[in-house]
Amino acid sequence: MFSKDLLSRRNFFVLAGATGAGLLAGCSKSVPPRAAATFTAIEALERQHGLTRRALAVMDKIRHGIDAQMDISPETAGGAVAIISDFMINCHQLMEEKFIFPVFAATKNTADLIAVLRQQHGAAFKLTDILKPLCAGLSQKDQENRRKTVNMIHLLTRMTLAHESWEDTALFPLLRVAVPGKSYEELSYEFEQAENQFLGQGGINRTLEKIAGFETILGMGNLGSFTPRPQDLS
Ligand SMILES: [Fe+2]
Ligand SMILES: [Fe+2]
Repeated sequence: MFSKDLLSRRNFFVLAGATGAGLLAGCSKSVPPRAAATFTAIEALERQHGLTRRALAVMDKIRHGIDAQMDISPETAGGAVAIISDFMINCHQLMEEKFIFPVFAATKNTADLIAVLRQQHGAAFKLTDILKPLCAGLSQKDQENRRKTVNMIHLLTRMTLAHESWEDTALFPLLRVAVPGKSYEELSYEFEQAENQFLGQGGINRTLEKIAGFETILGMGNLGSFTPRPQDLS
């Protein structure tokens, strides 16, 4: 089964410099004043979820393409899964485990939810690890590879869309109450620092540009293309 603690089995040196240690509720007194974060923690999480959903939509488009026997290049499939690995797994989910989950893990009403969320992070890590070589080796000739790739993408997107929806509706709305006032400002600052350490300054925009590149390759680069045609609405 999957490890419950992603941090225990990942290289976490990047976050070592981002303290994270003093941001749980009630610990702001000893922290010296700092510049305010550009985005609050919830705003940053919202943007990260938006990026992961667009990356997952790219993966799903690849899945449909493989299913329809289209010629999806290994560069496209491999590049898309690299975004899932680099951004969703090794940035977004790690940041949740470092900064968000500890706030709720000891709370009676949310402990069970946190346990499931952690387990799903582990499953996403495993699925992405399986997908990397499958996507890099994608070819028209290897039907077994294609079948397995389709199945793994389905498992990853199905779980992660539900996972993020629960985080958005059952967990993140509780954050402002659990981490009030100055502590929330501290959390937002630490969260932003960690994101910059993971991705580099402006890295979130570079991630978006990468996703947009794959959206364009796959013919989904225009938001309007998702709108039903008039004939579909009759
Ligand atoms: Fe999560
Ligand atoms: Fe999340």
